Amino acid sequence: MKKILFVASEVVPFIKTGGLADVVGALPKFINKKKYDVRVMMPNYRGISDALKEQMEYVTHFYMHLSWRTQYVGILEMEYEGIHFYFVDNEFYFAGTYPYGQIFEDVEKFGFFSKAVLSALPVIDFRPDIIHCHDWQTGLIPVFLKDRFSDNEFYRGIKTVMTVHNLKFQGIWNIPTIRDITGLSMYYFTPDKLEYKGDANYLKGGLVYADKITTVSPSYANEIKNAYYGEGLDGLLNARSNDLSGILNGIDYESYNPATDEALAKRYTVDTFRKERFKNKLALQKEAGLEQDKKKFVIGIVSRLTEQKGFDLVSYVMDEICSIADVQLIVLGTGEERFENMFRHFAWKYPDRISINTFYDEGFSRRIYAGSDVFLMPSRFEPCGLSQLISLRYGAVPLVRETGGLRDTVEAYDEYNHTGTGFSFANFNAHEMLGILHYARRVFDNKREWNKIIERGMRTDFSWNNSAKDYENLYESL
Ligand code: ADP
Ligand code: GLC
Repeated sequence: MKKILFVASEVVPFIKTGGLADVVGALPKFINKKKYDVRVMMPNYRGISDALKEQMEYVTHFYMHLSWRTQYVGILEMEYEGIHFYFVDNEFYFAGTYPYGQIFEDVEKFGFFSKAVLSALPVIDFRPDIIHCHDWQTGLIPVFLKDRFSDNEFYRGIKTVMTVHNLKFQGIWNIPTIRDITGLSMYYFTPDKLEYKGDANYLKGGLVYADKITTVSPSYANEIKNAYYGEGLDGLLNARSNDLSGILNGIDYESYNPATDEALAKRYTVDTFRKERFKNKLALQKEAGLEQDKKKFVIGIVSRLTEQKGFDLVSYVMDEICSIADVQLIVLGTGEERFENMFRHFAWKYPDRISINTFYDEGFSRRIYAGSDVFLMPSRFEPCGLSQLISLRYGAVPLVRETGGLRDTVEAYDEYNHTGTGFSFANFNAHEMLGILHYARRVFDNKREWNKIIERGMRTDFSWNNSAKDYENLYESL
């Protein structure tokens, strides 16, 4: 039995700001339990709900050096849906209700976390064969493992996988501070290791020292070897391309299931959506404060409101979008103020057409997937994207830019061959997006054709079953 330890900064159901949490929360459940003992380790944030905290059990605690500091490391554990979770406890670092803060706080917080994870292993008597690290917050794990832990017999031979969910975030701060946090010697801060444009870079450390690198779609794995998507690390990723692969994310088909989803006004399946789904549309319009009319063309957005997600394009042609016949736009998202304000402005200008909701609400998000006609996701870049997968599953036709995982999961509608599950455009160009939106609006008038697009989408399979096997093959290759 191979032992695998997943390490991440956010995990569903404990804490979530984006797709990373969904992936790390779901994937372990789908790895073959007969062959692998998969456990998960994450911080014990104050923001984790009391209901979940009550189920945690204290395991042990010890004190750990972090350079000149001596810090408390508590370990808690819990079994949840068949998976063994460990929580690293420290009230100083994990006092926030939100996992992330200012970058200078986060580099110390996750430097501490990465070292604490490794230090805890002998104490909890769990020696993983493979540590599977996710994103920059865990980038120092492969580095620490090579450095101060390698003298200890316990750690010898442990392999590491570094999965990149988003190359944009790397954990960069000045070298003196990072040396002061990590206690790593100057040896590590050269351009072939952690140094990056004069600073220290956690993710780069992970990419240099991990045995294998993965990212969350095949297209993104290729794209990041080019300067446009490479965020300054394309050279390194090219150098490591023999160890780099893309494995497509799935979504949890049990949790995201319109046939059983309790958040919905009306449940439906691929066989009943033609008769039932519009009830969710009417309920959504009501919840969003818009006119209830099933003939309206409802565009849904559920997203972090950041540059990555392509909202520059949306803001550029918002007046034109609002003049599409019968359009209603429902947005659920939080993020950069400029985008929140942009949507607020247009909601003020077109109160009968736009509903802007700047908060986080899991149930509402599900009702948007179940009630919208189109789901808009014009990302500038997209490592994988889960929202378009949830849309396909719930029958909201995705309209996406052809990039990263969007390209790998949404097949463009072809009116001649009657194929395709959504709509897409190639260039990061607002009028190209607008053109496709107009086209989708025309196809929408043909109910039979539209319903077939929905049906094909609902029949696609982006559950974890296939991708979990790809991860198992990767573990075997180590
Ligand atoms: P990313 O991880 O880049 O934000 P993904 O598409 O991979 O993008 O995952 C986003 C996840 O977060 C989806 O499950 C989406 O439904 C959810 N989400 C984003 N914003 C909100 C929100 N305001 N309320 C509820 N869920 C949200
Ligand atoms: C990141 C990416 C997103 C991906 C998610 C989970 O947040 O932005 O595309 O789906 O991680 O891997």
